Amino acid sequence: MHRKDLVPEYLKNLQVYQAGKPIDEVVREKGLTRVSKLASNENPLGPSPFAIREMTRGLWDLHRYPDMHAYALKSKLADIYDLKLENIILGNGSEGIMAYIARAFLRPDDEVLTCDNTFIGFYILARSVGAKLNKVPLTEDYRFDVKALAKNITDKTKVIYIANPNNPTGTYITKEEFDYLMEYVPPHVLVILDEAYFEFAQDQEDYPDSMNYRYDNVLTLRTFSKAYGLSGIRVGYGFGHAELIGYLSRVKLPFEPNLIGQLGAVGALEDQPHLDRTLRNNRKRYDELMSFLEERDFSPIKSITNFVTIKTGSSEASDFMFEELLNEGVIIRKLVANEMPEFVRISIGTKDEMKHFFEAFDRILPAYNKRFRKDLV
Ligand SMILES: Cc1ncc(COP(=O)(O)O)c(C=O)c1O
Repeated sequence: MHRKDLVPEYLKNLQVYQAGKPIDEVVREKGLTRVSKLASNENPLGPSPFAIREMTRGLWDLHRYPDMHAYALKSKLADIYDLKLENIILGNGSEGIMAYIARAFLRPDDEVLTCDNTFIGFYILARSVGAKLNKVPLTEDYRFDVKALAKNITDKTKVIYIANPNNPTGTYITKEEFDYLMEYVPPHVLVILDEAYFEFAQDQEDYPDSMNYRYDNVLTLRTFSKAYGLSGIRVGYGFGHAELIGYLSRVKLPFEPNLIGQLGAVGALEDQPHLDRTLRNNRKRYDELMSFLEERDFSPIKSITNFVTIKTGSSEASDFMFEELLNEGVIIRKLVANEMPEFVRISIGTKDEMKHFFEAFDRILPAYNKRFRKDLV
């Protein structure tokens, strides 16, 4: 028996998730001291001090297993969103919950209907259990195409995955579009609404906050990794019908999220001022970034999140921009894995980090224009 026979065919060529380049790696490789990471849509202000206080308190209890039912965290979420505990699932990041979804609901050859150019974590997890992806293109303005999704629902469709807002485009489907789609979705098809960037999006009037709907076949996923500034402790949460949550609980590892994760998340939920500061910084820096890019003849995709995606025009131009900015100590994200090699994504940072980005960008721009935008030179 060969080692390769240990795994099913669909695992042999499965790609591994590529994360944004870590700061330490850039410091090590480039010998730089000033590095700004604008690559993973993290909260540049850091974790809430309340979360840090709670997590520090938890260090003294690390010889104990965490509360398997995560009562404190689930109760808090239940209070905030007016739910029962049995409607809530927690996991090791929202990706952890996506892994439970794949394990519980997807079998080889089941079909997952979604769009191109969305969060590839879900693609990978669906493929890891042998499910097939049926991907329709985004609309011309880089949004999930609900009409194409509705048209492509088949007998085989088991799950529809929608990132709303979408990563890496920062765009969203509206209330009207969500209503339209749900008219076509049969009750046995599961809709995953991935709302990792919900906190940034919630003020848009036509954004369909999934908590205002009560569909038995919709699962909402959210996270503490983005606006709450806790990517490092890996806590995500999901809301849905008690029966669906019950199935997910059967495949879940018993002690996820871990003890520090549970405490940090509770602390974060208690710190509304930190979340407000985060959203204020994001709005201000977003406006500055959009103006900066537009003034330099780029057309950033309008985003309701904490990142902005721009078209470079080619994969060579993206590589050049990425590498040259890296030499300046600024890490952005290439989107090859998202099948958008002619785009790059810039996460919104602090005022200081954005200043670093602006200065670095203006230093590399003449060479970039000379090579890739001859019409502008
Ligand atoms: C749309 C989307 N969903 C989920 C995730 C994963 O989040 P978590 O850290 O909760 O696993 C990300 C992270 O980039 C994302 O962009």
